[in-house]
Amino acid sequence: MALAKLMQEAGETFTKIFGHQPDYYSSAPGRVNLIGEHIDYCDGLVLPAAIDRYIVIAFRKTDSLKGEICMHSAGNMTEIPLDVELITSEPEWANYVRGIIDGFHNIGYHDIPGFQAYIHSNLPRSSGLSSTSALECCTAHMVEQLIGVQLDKTLKAILCQRAEHSFAGVPCGIMNPYVTIFSKQDHLISLDCRDISSSYLPFPTDELALIVANTKKYHHLNDGSYASRRRQVDDTLSLLEKESWRDVTMAELEARQDDISHLAYKRSRHVIAEIERSKIALAAWNERDYDHVGQLMNASHQSLQHDYEATCYELDVMANIAQTIGHEGGVLGSKMTGGGFGGSTITLVRKDSVRHVMEEIYDKYRIATHQTPMIFCPSIVAGSLTTPAAEV
Ligand code: GLA
Repeated sequence: MALAKLMQEAGETFTKIFGHQPDYYSSAPGRVNLIGEHIDYCDGLVLPAAIDRYIVIAFRKTDSLKGEICMHSAGNMTEIPLDVELITSEPEWANYVRGIIDGFHNIGYHDIPGFQAYIHSNLPRSSGLSSTSALECCTAHMVEQLIGVQLDKTLKAILCQRAEHSFAGVPCGIMNPYVTIFSKQDHLISLDCRDISSSYLPFPTDELALIVANTKKYHHLNDGSYASRRRQVDDTLSLLEKESWRDVTMAELEARQDDISHLAYKRSRHVIAEIERSKIALAAWNERDYDHVGQLMNASHQSLQHDYEATCYELDVMANIAQTIGHEGGVLGSKMTGGGFGGSTITLVRKDSVRHVMEEIYDKYRIATHQTPMIFCPSIVAGSLTTPAAEV
């Protein structure tokens, strides 16, 4: 199994670096989101699922006052002092770890023991699959194990979200840490971001499958484009004198069109329409009307492309290829997933068409962009956890 293999690899490298074996492994999966994009910070409803691509941390408690931590893809060892107030610093990836430790300090856990840790992963970074949230959740599991507590799962998701806000500068919503922590095998999560309540929706694995198509156009959400979208919609909500986007109708927006800029109007139109689409998609999923869900995914991409302007050329090409294969070829719907501006699409397909659809997307994307995409058919897996080394 992929996760067990990753843990073994992490353990072997840990042992080479630190001279002894790790005691535990924490692991956290990435995610895709079927619908409800860029509305988790607008009190919307989202339909994500965790996928079988992970961050794994092999770790061991020490007697020191520091965390010694090394990341597979980044090379060098970093030390994080545990007895001082933490601030953002170099290397950048370690800020996700610092942010989580700071989060535990802030809720009263000041005595975090020293540790040695090695981070390993098969989850592509900056690809819209939530690798930063996976790193944060994985670190939170490690810290829980080090101090011997288990936080309430929702509190843990909020702690991870705050770390992203204050240590990575991305004012993200709750979706990613929530799905990474709460996910259940072969289920989507229907998460209402207004009151952080959720339910599980069975994914019919005998009938349908998901295809992730990574454009390989990488994008870092902390470059300001994500934050600017959030600022635009927050400002417009205040201007409309509303408490929540859930309370704003399209008719109300139309009525105020002259009071706001055209840009603010387009951003708001995406938010209101996407909130509505995700509600309809949830109802359709419950009625097993998957074709309808697929159509809503296509409409979501159009809205993200033209109104929210959170896609990019490569994402539009990728989604368009899948949408053009269409129902006859086994594609129910396709859209960008995650923060956008680069990254991946998610396509809902009939199970018997997976191979053919993957091949067609791969070939056509290469011809259109002269880039080689990374395409895979993920399983939906359970959320983050900690495993004793003896069990691996
Ligand atoms: C990023 C953020 C999420 C969410 C998505 C877009 O992944 O971290 O909170 O806003 O973008 O749906």
